[in-house]
Amino acid sequence: MSNDNAFDLIVIGSGPGGYIAAIRGAQLGLNVACVEKDKTLGGTCLNVGCIPSKALLDSSEHYDYTKNHLAQHGVKVAGVELDLPAMLGRKDKIVKQLTGGIAYLFRKHKVTRLSGLGTLLGDGKVEVTADDGSKQTVSGKHILIATGSSPISLPGITLDGDRIGTSTEALSYPEVPKHLVVIGAGVIGLELGSVWARLGAKVTIVEYMPKLLPMLDADLSKVAAKLFPRQGLDFEFGAKVTGATLNEAGDEVTVTFERDGETHEVKGDRLLVAVGRRPNTQGLGADTVGLKTDRRGAIEIDDHFRTNVPGIYAIGDVVRGPMLAHKAEDEGVAAVELIAGQPGHINYDAIPNVIYTHPEIASVGKTEAELKDAGIPYNKGSFPFAANGRAKALAQTDGLVKILAHAETDRILGVHIIGPRASDVIAEAAVAIEFSACAEDLARSVHGHPTLSEVVKQAALAVAGRATQM
Ligand code: NAI
Repeated sequence: MSNDNAFDLIVIGSGPGGYIAAIRGAQLGLNVACVEKDKTLGGTCLNVGCIPSKALLDSSEHYDYTKNHLAQHGVKVAGVELDLPAMLGRKDKIVKQLTGGIAYLFRKHKVTRLSGLGTLLGDGKVEVTADDGSKQTVSGKHILIATGSSPISLPGITLDGDRIGTSTEALSYPEVPKHLVVIGAGVIGLELGSVWARLGAKVTIVEYMPKLLPMLDADLSKVAAKLFPRQGLDFEFGAKVTGATLNEAGDEVTVTFERDGETHEVKGDRLLVAVGRRPNTQGLGADTVGLKTDRRGAIEIDDHFRTNVPGIYAIGDVVRGPMLAHKAEDEGVAAVELIAGQPGHINYDAIPNVIYTHPEIASVGKTEAELKDAGIPYNKGSFPFAANGRAKALAQTDGLVKILAHAETDRILGVHIIGPRASDVIAEAAVAIEFSACAEDLARSVHGHPTLSEVVKQAALAVAGRATQM
C-alpha cells in the first residue's frame, strides 16, 4: 500500500458490530482500520453492557442460590457473606480480559486500530480526534458506521452519574443500595434489578405500561409476572414518571409518577433509569455528509446496509431493528461480505432475543399474538420444565417451552422459552427456523437425555398432540 492513511474499509466503532466486521473484512483480504473513541475496544457490550451485567447476574445468582436454595440439595453452608468488592473486581477482570482479547484479534488479523472520535468529512475521509485533541485524517474506499447507542433519560430527570444513573453506574454501585428504584421494566431494568435484589436491595420498578414485558408471547409474560415479584422485585405498573430529585444531603432520590390522574412518589437511595437507548450519531459528522436519519435518529439504510451516501454503510444499534449485540455482529459480517462482492444476508426472523433474568427468557420468531394479527393459521405445543428430569435434578422447574408452527405446513414460526438456561436452549430453535424446519423435524431429532433441551423436543411433539413425557 502506498499511502498509510488509505484503507479499503474504515469501521467506526469497535463494539460487537464493528470489531467483528473489521475482522471479517481482514479475512476477506481488505485493508481495514477500526476507529474507537474509548480507551478500550468492545463498545457498550463488552465494557458496560452484556458482559459485565452477565458477570454480575451469574455472581449474584451464586450468592442467592447458596444462601437460599442450596440446602435443598443437602448442602448446608453457614455464614454466607457477600464480598461486593471481590464480585465487582471479578466482573472488571472479565471485561479487561475480553477487551484485551479484541486488541489481540486486531493485531492477529492486521486490523489497524485508530484511537479517537471518528468524524465523517466526505469524499471517503474520516477525521480521527484523539483524547489529547490531536487529529489525523484517513481515507477509506468504504466506511462502515457501527457507533452503537447510548442510554436515554426522561424529561424531568437529570442523570448525575452517581445516585441518578443508567446501567453504567448500576454495574458498579460501591455498596448494595438499601432501596433501588428503577424506571422501566424492560430488559435492563429486570436484569440489573434482579442483580441488586439478589444482593439484598429492596427494588421497586416503576413502569409506564400496564404489565410486564408486553412484547413477549403472553404465555411467557404470565409466568414472568408470577415469578418476578417473588424474587423481591416490586412493580408499579401504569406509572408515568414525571421527575426525580436528589435531596440536599445527596443520599435520597424521590421519583414522582402519575397514575389515574393522581401523583405518587417513591423514595430510594439510588435510581436506575432504564427507559431505552438511542442511536449514537453525535460528533459523527452525519450532517456534513448529508446522512439521512429516521424519526428515532437511526441512520437509514437499504437491504444491503447502504446509507444514502455512496460508500458509507451502517449496522447495529445505530440503524433500525432490535438493539442486540448478536444482531449487530451478523449485520457487520453481512455488510462487509457485500462490500467485498460476496452475498451477505440476515434472516431477521431467526434472531433470538434473550433476557437474563432467573429463569431466563428467550424467544425467536413470531409470538402467538403476531400470528393472530397477521391471520396466519398455526398449531401450538407447549411443555413445562416441571416435567423434565434434568430441570428436576437442577431444582429449576419453573417455566415452559412453547412452539408455534404453521397449521398447514408445520413450519416452525416461533419458539418461546422461559426456564433454566433458556439462553442456550433457544439456539436449536434459531437454527431450526434458519433451516425452515418443521415442528416434526425437531420432534424427530434425537435429544440427549436427560437434558433441558428435551423440553424443546417435547413441545415440538406437543404441536401434533403427542408429547410423550406428559
Ligand atoms: P427497553 O426498551 O427494554 O425497556 C424500557 C422500558 O421503560 C419499557 O418497558 C418502557 O415502557 C419503560 N418506560 C419508558 N418510558 C417510561 C416512563 N416515562 N415511565 C415509566 N416507564 C417508562 O429498554 P432498556 O431496558 O433500557 O434496554 C435498552 C436496550 O438495550 C434494549 O433495546 C435492549 O434490547 C438492549 N438490551 C438487551 C439486553 C439483552 O439482550 N439481554 C440486555 C440489556 C439491554
